[in-house]
Amino acid sequence: MSTVIVTGATRGIGKAIALKLTDLKFNVVLVGRNVKQLTILEDEIKQKGGECISVKVDLSDKSSFGKIIKESYFQFGEIDVLINNAGLAQAGSIEDTDIATWDLLHAVNARAPFFLSKAAIPYLKKSNNPIIINISSVVGFKGYVNQAAYVSSKHALTGFTKVLAKEVQKDGIKVHLISPGGVNTEMIQEMRPDIDVEQLIQPEEIAELVEFLVTRKGNGIVDQLYIRRKIGEAFDG
Ligand SMILES: NC(=O)c1ccc[n+]([C@@H]2O[C@H](COP(=O)([O-])OP(=O)(O)OC[C@H]3O[C@@H](n4cnc5c(N)ncnc54)[C@H](OP(=O)(O)O)[C@@H]3O)[C@@H](O)[C@H]2O)c1
Repeated sequence: MSTVIVTGATRGIGKAIALKLTDLKFNVVLVGRNVKQLTILEDEIKQKGGECISVKVDLSDKSSFGKIIKESYFQFGEIDVLINNAGLAQAGSIEDTDIATWDLLHAVNARAPFFLSKAAIPYLKKSNNPIIINISSVVGFKGYVNQAAYVSSKHALTGFTKVLAKEVQKDGIKVHLISPGGVNTEMIQEMRPDIDVEQLIQPEEIAELVEFLVTRKGNGIVDQLYIRRKIGEAFDG
């Protein structure tokens, strides 16, 4: 049995990942703020015969990282995979973005993955197959108008991931970045209501990429998976 921590598990991409990893027989630690959604998902996983716990925290709170790791280890005695998925987006021009919004987006999208990874590393070092997967975005590489704070936070996550991969390689910890375009979740409905839902990636497709990463064997290392919506702009580096 292996144990995975999934942040932002209450809905959207994180929920799809948590359900996929339950099917793969992982113990799952569900992280989020919405207690009702955490309880619903816990029940769904238990009905499937899976093992899980919920950790209710706000990832903008600096005390959340230690709490997640402590409760995961207390319950399952191991941490094998960390999936930094939780994220927050807010549309707005640079002129309309205030400091509180900028700080919050960077706290959840960039600071939390950094310090949760840091807290998890000592435990991941003890695992036979330790993995960290960071969910960034196409906006982690490109610039989009009216999304500057979100874009900036995801660039920070991309940069952090590049260094993380190098620093923990010696410990056998594999680090992967998944960078999706538009996915059919509440976030895209808020940020890009103009996009036809039919064009969007489904959350389960991101979960399939996670399945690929956590089950693959072999010598090759996958650094990044970039997936875009049907008629999204083709990858240009
Ligand atoms: N949807 C897209 O088009 C798209 C594209 C590229 C990348 N992404 C990335 O994919 C990830 C998942 O996004 P999604 O589309 O599934 O979004 P979503 O449906 O809005 O879900 C966001 C998740 O993050 C959690 N979260 C947000 N703020 C939090 C906080 N302060 N503390 C703890 N948890 C928090 C939410 O849980 P609670 O509300 O329970 O706290 C929720 O489970 C994000 O990192 C996002 O940037 C999304």
